[in-house]
Amino acid sequence: MNEVLRTIEQRFSCRDYDGRPVDKETLQTIAKAALQSPSAMNLQPWRLLVIADKAMVDKLDCAAMDYMKSLPDKGLYNRIMERGGKVFYNAPVLYLILKDPAAGSNWTDVDCGIMTQNICLAAASLGLDSVIVAMAHLSFRGEDADELKAALKWPEGLEFGMGVLVGHGIIKKEPHEIDWGKVINY
Ligand SMILES: Cc1cc2nc3c(=O)[nH]c(=O)nc-3n(C[C@H](O)[C@H](O)[C@H](O)COP(=O)(O)O)c2cc1C
Repeated sequence: MNEVLRTIEQRFSCRDYDGRPVDKETLQTIAKAALQSPSAMNLQPWRLLVIADKAMVDKLDCAAMDYMKSLPDKGLYNRIMERGGKVFYNAPVLYLILKDPAAGSNWTDVDCGIMTQNICLAAASLGLDSVIVAMAHLSFRGEDADELKAALKWPEGLEFGMGVLVGHGIIKKEPHEIDWGKVINY
């Protein structure tokens, strides 16, 4: 098996990190892999916000938890509390993929999804762990959303696309089981 296939096979969603920082060169290598993602008509309808300041990642985690707590339905909040009370799992780095509606693409979500996977695979190939976190959008739903976006230099008009946490995992787990029944051979 070649390196690429091994990386794809070994990637898994890591939900517990030791919090140690990731060095700048590695962050840049991952960002480069993200930017190398294909996009429909090469419109590149995205920006990549790299948050490598753990204090900020923790702040965003708290913002998401506070928002969930403020909802009339406490179901989601209670579920997260039962499994550790963190949506960002003590990770030191959060890559936020922002969608650019001004690019005028019909395929922005697909493009951002491909960038998401490039980040995960690049991280895995470098011996790091990762997890995709759609829940990161909850960090920007509360009363302090504008303040947080301003602090992050989130460009005007751009929307949340996806989040990916990267770091050094404490817990390793087996990748999910594949289901060959999903393949239709004609
Ligand atoms: C679009 C998308 C959103 C996801 N959002 C979250 C999330 O918010 N929190 C989380 O812990 N995992 C999230 N995941 C990770 C999935 O739960 C995980 O990929 C799935 O259970 C398969 O496990 P594996 O990645 O270990 O193979 C997300 C995955 C995808 C593709």
